[in-house]
Amino acid sequence: NQATEAGRFRASLTAGLAKANFVEGLDTPILAYNGTSPGPLIEAFEGDRVEIDFDNAIPGEESTIHWHGMPVPADQDGNPMDPVAAGAKRVYAFDLPADSAGPYWYHPHPHGKTAEQVYRGLAGVFLVKPKTDPVPAAYSDTVLFFTDLRLGEDGAMPESSMVDLMNGRVGDHVLVNGQKSPTLAVGLGTKRRFRLFNATNARFLRLSFGNAAMTVIGSDGGLLEAPVTVDEVLLAPAERVELVVAFDKPGVVQLATLDYDRGWMGPGRPDDAGLTLLTVNVSETPAEPAPPLPQKLRSIAARGTSAVRRRFVFTEKMGMGAGGMEMGFFINDAAFDMNRVDVVAKAGETELWEIVNKADMDHPFHVHGTQFQVIENERDGKVTPAPHRAWKDTVNVARGETVRLLLKQERPGLRMYHCHILEHEQLGMMGVVDVR
Ligand code: C2O
Ligand code: CU
Ligand code: CU
Repeated sequence: NQATEAGRFRASLTAGLAKANFVEGLDTPILAYNGTSPGPLIEAFEGDRVEIDFDNAIPGEESTIHWHGMPVPADQDGNPMDPVAAGAKRVYAFDLPADSAGPYWYHPHPHGKTAEQVYRGLAGVFLVKPKTDPVPAAYSDTVLFFTDLRLGEDGAMPESSMVDLMNGRVGDHVLVNGQKSPTLAVGLGTKRRFRLFNATNARFLRLSFGNAAMTVIGSDGGLLEAPVTVDEVLLAPAERVELVVAFDKPGVVQLATLDYDRGWMGPGRPDDAGLTLLTVNVSETPAEPAPPLPQKLRSIAARGTSAVRRRFVFTEKMGMGAGGMEMGFFINDAAFDMNRVDVVAKAGETELWEIVNKADMDHPFHVHGTQFQVIENERDGKVTPAPHRAWKDTVNVARGETVRLLLKQERPGLRMYHCHILEHEQLGMMGVVDVR
C-alpha cells in the first residue's frame, strides 16, 4: 500500500496491537505498524512529495510518527507537542529535497511513551533513494534493521526495571529484520551493499564481518564522499551505517558483535562478545562479476564556520531519595520540559554545538530536522579531528568525551535534541530548540 506516481508518494501506516510468535506455542503481544514489526519498509525518491496517512489504533495511548533524520517541516515531524490521540488520524506531508537520499527510519515520539512504544515494536525503515545511484545495482541493497527483545516466561514483554531505566532497556535477543540470526547465501566474489540500522532502545553494537573486507560507504545522512575501509564499526542506538562487503572466500562469514564497554550501572551488564547476527554462506560457485565501487560517491560541502557557539553538558544523578532509588538525566542541569524553549536559533545559520559528556555512561546525541557534520572530538585534552566528512543526525558521546559539530537548521519551528537511549530521553535528557 505504497506507491510513487508522478513524484507523489503515498502510504498509510496504522499503529496498533498485534501478536508475534517468538517462542513456539507462545503469543507475544506487540505493537506494530500495519500488523508487522519492524514496520513496512518505505522507499521513496528524492524530489517526491510524501503523504502518509497515520491512524493511531493503539488503545488508550497517544502516539506520533517521527521521521528520524529526515529534513521535514517541524509540524510534520511527530514531535511530542503534536500528539495524535488514541483512535485519531492525521496526515504527515513533506517534500524530499534534492540530495537527501539516505537511510532514515521512523518511530513514535509521544511524551513519556516513546521508549515503551518502540521496544514493543513500533519502528521501521524509510529509505530515500537518489534518482541515479553511484553504488552498482549489482550489489543488491540489503537492509539490516536491528532491534532487541526481552520476553517473560509467559511470552509477554515484561515492564522495565530500575536497571532498564538507568542504563536503557537492553533486550535478551537481538533481532535482524524481526528474525533471530537469519542466513544469506551468496556466490563467490559477491559484493553486497548493507544498510545497518540500530533501532534498539539502548544497545551499543560493535560489529565485524570477520575476515570479509568491510568498506563504509555511508552514514546516517547518506553516502560519504569516498569509500573507507574498516575492520569494525560501532553503531550507537539510532545510528546507521552503509557498508559494502566483499565475499571473496568460500565458506561461512558471520556478522558478529564485539564487546563494547559503554559504562554500565548496577548489575546485569550484557555480554555482547560473539553474538552472531547474520550468517552468510559463500558458495564455491562464482557470482556474476560485479563492477567496482566508484572511488567518488558524492560531494559534501564543508559546513564552513559559525558565529554561534553553544555548549550542552550531559549529566546524571543517582541516589537514594525518600521514595527509594531516584535518578535523573540532564542537559545543562535541566530535565526536559515540553513547555520550555531551551535554545533559540536562526534558520539557515550555521552553529557550532559542543556536546560534553560528564556522566558515567555513553550518551548518543541526536537532533531532529537536520544532518550535521562532526568536526572533532576531545578526550583527556586530546583533540582528534573527524577522519572524513559525513552527514550525521546521531553521534555517540562517550563518557568523558566532548564532541563538536557544525549544524544548521533550514526550517523554522520547534526541534528536539536528546540522548537516543530512549529511557534517558524519557527521564529528561532532552531539550527544545526554537528555530526562527
Ligand atoms: Cu529517533 Cu527524537 O528521535
Ligand atoms: Cu529524530
Ligand atoms: Cu543517555
